[in-house]
Amino acid sequence: MTPHLHQLYPELEHTLPHLSLGKSPTSVRRLTSLDSVAADLWVKDDSEFGDGGWGGNKVRKLEWLLPDALRQRRHTIVTVGGLGTNWGLATALYGRENGLKTVLALIDQPVDDHVRAQLERLRASGAKLYFTKTKGRTVLSAPYILARSFSGRRPPYFLPAGGSSAVGALGYVEAALEIAAQVRAGELPEPTHIVTPVGSGGTVAGLSLGMRLAGLSTRVVGVVVNDTLRLDEPTLAKLAARSAQLLRDRGARLPENITPAGNLDIVTDYLGSGYGYPTPEAGTAQTLSAALEHLTLEPVYTAKAMAALLDMNGQGRFGRGPVIFLNTNGPR
Ligand SMILES: Cc1ncc(COP(=O)(O)O)c(C=O)c1O
Repeated sequence: MTPHLHQLYPELEHTLPHLSLGKSPTSVRRLTSLDSVAADLWVKDDSEFGDGGWGGNKVRKLEWLLPDALRQRRHTIVTVGGLGTNWGLATALYGRENGLKTVLALIDQPVDDHVRAQLERLRASGAKLYFTKTKGRTVLSAPYILARSFSGRRPPYFLPAGGSSAVGALGYVEAALEIAAQVRAGELPEPTHIVTPVGSGGTVAGLSLGMRLAGLSTRVVGVVVNDTLRLDEPTLAKLAARSAQLLRDRGARLPENITPAGNLDIVTDYLGSGYGYPTPEAGTAQTLSAALEHLTLEPVYTAKAMAALLDMNGQGRFGRGPVIFLNTNGPR
């Protein structure tokens, strides 16, 4: 299917390659049992995205990143994540299917059963793993890892944590255009807010730009779950601006006034002790979502975002809504 981004800007068709890795649109449905307080709640379930039904938000980014790496004739992707990185696993497996090797620098995070199982999957994925432990050591070892990842004279394709580059964020520009199409088709009302976790920021940056390009006034509420990266509003708005510039550089005639986006609300009150540390509120949100709405969340990202949504809704922060929860979880 032609992506919405190419439909909106046909001039990008030959300059910005896209590789379809998932079935879209992902479904939207009303959350009828959680919404007793103030706003109407909906979910857009990106857990369905990805061939074979796994990968979630990572796969939307890879739809633009993998063809960009291939266009630059790279053979290897180098990227970074925590020990249980969903991003690293998706890159390794979807990359492998498309002829790209993956090298991962892994930073320590609290180890539980989920992280242990994820590490086993990473080991089985064929990716080369470097256990760099801390952010500082990762930065120090980066030149060595990059030098070892050349394929002949070809440098590797480097991606920041979570694939949140200007190219990766296009996956969520596309998702915002998809939401706009679903609103036009009457599948859901125009949302006043969309709530989702912020791990490295590509998802919210893409949504922020995409909502503006789609002409929706929806505010993007990003719930920060990671304290190892700078994820404030100016930083994420800058990422959205870089994606806009990339589209312009590739020939898209974007309206002049769309950046900085100005539709991004970043909340930091639901992180708890840090990245990967569980919070009681997230535990409750995870249990309620599963029991009442058949919505499977995980503790690191989506349960914290849902805890934020429920709490903020209880405080009347969304008015009457409607509010969409974007489910980015896509377990394998
Ligand atoms: C389930 C899940 N949700 C959200 C995110 C964070 O998205 P972003 O890195 O675009 O902020 C991740 C990142 O790996 C994730 O695995």
